Amino acid sequence: MRIQLTNLSFGYDYRTVLKDISFKLESGDFLVIIGNNGSGKSTLIKCILGINKVPSKKIYLDDVNINDYKSWINIGYVPQKFDDFNYEFPITVNEILSASRYGKVSEEEKLEWLDRLGILELQNENINNLSGGQLQRVFIVRSLMNKPKLLILDEPTVGVDATNVERFYSTVNDLNRMGVTIILITHDIKSSKANFTHVMHLHQGEATVKKVAPKRGESS
Ligand SMILES: Nc1ncnc2c1ncn2[C@@H]1O[C@H](COP(=O)(O)OP(=O)(O)O)[C@@H](O)[C@H]1O
Ligand SMILES: [Mg+2]
Repeated sequence: MRIQLTNLSFGYDYRTVLKDISFKLESGDFLVIIGNNGSGKSTLIKCILGINKVPSKKIYLDDVNINDYKSWINIGYVPQKFDDFNYEFPITVNEILSASRYGKVSEEEKLEWLDRLGILELQNENINNLSGGQLQRVFIVRSLMNKPKLLILDEPTVGVDATNVERFYSTVNDLNRMGVTIILITHDIKSSKANFTHVMHLHQGEATVKKVAPKRGESS
């Protein structure tokens, strides 16, 4: 998916959080966003997800003005610490995945994603019995259920152990290689093997975006 932001500013009430942000991603680009807590990273992706309402002509998704955009099913999203999801009720991993699936991913593909992320054996587990890191990986598989063209991951490896962080990046790199545009917010980018193509530094609401040569071949 192509994404274009043009002079986007955004704030809550009177306080400005994002200042005049412009950037462009092509299909298959991989953007990593870094910045201190409170710098506006989650706010920015919520603008791209249509959760935060922005003025017309500031954000385009596949060349469609976000206020006219309808194909939200093309976007996979893993929120930061699931703060947008209530998991206090008894439901299994499989039930969560079925509830989020509109038919695009086959049963075999679903099992493959579960296996690749190391949670195949948890399919019938009640989600309340999972650790934070396991649940995080369930949400990653959930975000893939409709074969997204854009995958947005907000600090997805918090609470995930080193082996599974590596599996996670290998999966994300493969998805990216298949043409999925990735936007990843993370604090562990230095140690990670993410094959990103762009880095954004957010500092007090101002963004600097750099294109980098992708580290192809380091991970698969
Ligand atoms: N829904 C909201 N209402 C009001 N202020 C918010 C809301 N969400 C975030 N903020 C504020 O906006 C600033 C940026 O937050 P956020 O985008 O979550 O930062 P980051 O993800 O980089 O840690 C913070 O000062 C935060 O308190
Ligand atoms: Mg955040």
